[in-house]
Amino acid sequence: MKVWLLLGLLLVQEALEDVTGQHPPKNKRPKETGENRIKPANKKVKPKIPKTKDRDSADSQPKTQSIMMQMMDKGRFQKPAATLSLTAGQTLELRCKGNKIGWSYPAYLDTFKDSRLSVKQNERYGQLTLVNSTAADTGEFSCWGQLCNGYICRKDEAKTGSTYIFFTEKGELFVPSPSYFDVVYLNPDRQAVVPCRVTVLSAKVTLHREFPAKEIPANGTDIVYDMKRGFVYLQPHSDHQGVVYCKAEAGGKSQISVKYQLLYAEVPSGPPSTSILASSNKVKSGDDISVLCTVLGEPDVEVEFRWIYPGQKEHSAVWGE
Ligand SMILES: *[C@@H]1O[C@H](CO)[C@@H](O)[C@H](O)[C@H]1NC(C)=O
Ligand SMILES: *[C@@H]1O[C@H](CO)[C@@H](O)[C@H](O)[C@H]1NC(C)=O
Repeated sequence: MKVWLLLGLLLVQEALEDVTGQHPPKNKRPKETGENRIKPANKKVKPKIPKTKDRDSADSQPKTQSIMMQMMDKGRFQKPAATLSLTAGQTLELRCKGNKIGWSYPAYLDTFKDSRLSVKQNERYGQLTLVNSTAADTGEFSCWGQLCNGYICRKDEAKTGSTYIFFTEKGELFVPSPSYFDVVYLNPDRQAVVPCRVTVLSAKVTLHREFPAKEIPANGTDIVYDMKRGFVYLQPHSDHQGVVYCKAEAGGKSQISVKYQLLYAEVPSGPPSTSILASSNKVKSGDDISVLCTVLGEPDVEVEFRWIYPGQKEHSAVWGE
C-alpha cells in the first residue's frame, strides 16, 4: 500500500497584533522576577530607566545610552540617530559594545539567506555588516547585550541600541514587496496594517481605494500612517474591505505601491485547530490513499507536521513544515 502524505497549511488570519515584530522570538526564555518581559527582537524598545543626565533632552522619549555605533569612512564612527537615511549601494557597518550581542534586522535579509549580510562577534563588540544595500533592506536594525546563565540567555534591557534605516534607491519610493498583490486580514480585535513603507523619510504618503476610486483619509482617528509600518487601521471594520494601494510623493516624483486586498476575517484568536482527513477509509491492497492534515490558525504560529503511520518505524516519522 502506498501512502501519500499531503501537507496542508491554511493561514486564515494574518497576525497583525505585532506587525512590527517580523521575527517573533522562537524560544520563550524563563522569566525572572523583577525582569521585564523579553520583547520580540525588533519591537521598539522603550526602557523605563530614568535618565541620569539630561544630555538628550531634545529627544522626547527617554532612553538609555545606546550601545550602537555606526562605522563611517576612514575609521570614523558615530552614534546612529533614531532614523538614518543611506543611499542604497552603500555598505552599512554597525557595532554594538559587548561580548555577547544579539541582533535583529529586517526579516527580508533572513528570508533570502542573504550573503550580503554578515554578523560577527568580536571580543568586545558585535559587528553587523551589510554590503550592496538595496531599498528592500529598509527597516529597523537593533542590538542588545545578553546576560547568560549557562545556555540560557536573556536580553539586557539596559544595553540596547537601535536605528531605523531608510535605504534610498532611485526609482524605489516604496520598500519593494516580493509580490504584486498582498492580502491584509482585518480582524476586529487587533490593528491591521497595509505595509506600504517608504524608502525616503520625507515622502508624503496617501492611501487610496481602487473602486470607487478615492483617497482614504488617514487623519489619526481611525487610520494612521506610521513610517515604520505603513497605514495602520486602529479599529478594523468590515466596511474597510476592498482593494487599496498607497501613493508616495517625494522630490517631484510620485509612485504607487502594490495593491492590497483587505479581507475581513472574524476568526477568534486562540490556539490553531487541526483536522485530518483520509481520501478513503477502505482501500484495496495496491491502491493509493492520501491523507490531508490541515492546521487552521494564525500565520505567526510555528507549525510542525509529524507523520506517523502503520508499518513505519517511529523514529523515521516524516517531518514537514
Ligand atoms: C557586491 O557588489 C559587487 C559589485 O557589483 C559584487 O562584485 C559583489 O559580489 C557583491 N557582493 C555581494 C556579497 O553580493
Ligand atoms: C478625520 O476623518 C474623519 C472621517 O473621514 C472625519 O469625520 C473627521 O472629521 C476627520 N478629522 C480631522 C481632524 O480631520
